Amino acid sequence: MNIQTRRMMAADCTSVIAIERASFACPWTLAGLVRKLRPEEKIVNGRVAVHNGRVIGHVVYELSRTRIELLTLAVDPIFRRRGAASLLIGDMTKKLSYERRRVLSLEVAERNLPACQFLRSQGFRWTKTIPHRFCNGESAYRFGLPFGACAMRASTVSLTPTHGENDA
Ligand SMILES: CC(C)(COP(=O)(O)OP(=O)(O)OC[C@H]1O[C@@H](n2cnc3c(N)ncnc32)[C@H](O)[C@@H]1OP(=O)(O)O)[C@@H](O)C(=O)NCCC(=O)NCCS
Repeated sequence: MNIQTRRMMAADCTSVIAIERASFACPWTLAGLVRKLRPEEKIVNGRVAVHNGRVIGHVVYELSRTRIELLTLAVDPIFRRRGAASLLIGDMTKKLSYERRRVLSLEVAERNLPACQFLRSQGFRWTKTIPHRFCNGESAYRFGLPFGACAMRASTVSLTPTHGENDA
């Protein structure tokens, strides 16, 4: 299946919000997403996975000096298990390696077993549990992928941007 990744644009927000709603009990709202991505908040950015011109997945991330925090990552339910999220994580690990940040991290709801399995498949490890983290009272598992693991991962994949421009 031909999936490409590219930088998220304002025109992608409607698709992204639809995927959020299909994916989470406490999804991002359009207002919240636009606020996060507005031009003056330069450290928040997003990438999307695209199939035949259709946005099928996204990652929104926040950059700090030492880390990349993934604020949300989701794939359209009918396009799951086709490698879209792996491509988006691949973009993030390359970014971590190139820019010498130390860790890629995110939080997932503790009952979100598929997400936990996905993260483990990408080399992430549990770091802590945060009680009552989400709007429905559910606790979160915090996962991290340290730079060393990313460097190993990046060295095992082609660094040629075969699945989209390397523009984030
Ligand atoms: C978690 C999620 C982002 C994975 O996206 P995806 O595009 O389906 O993931 P990939 O196809 O890249 O999966 C890569 C590997 O992760 C593991 N994996 C992914 N989904 C899985 C599931 N439901 N059950 C078990 N393992 C899973 C598998 O090892 C898979 O490889 P395989 O398909 O060759 O067995 C997607 O299920 C999703 O959007 N879930 C709802 C939102 C969410 O929970 N977000 C939290 C993100 S961590």
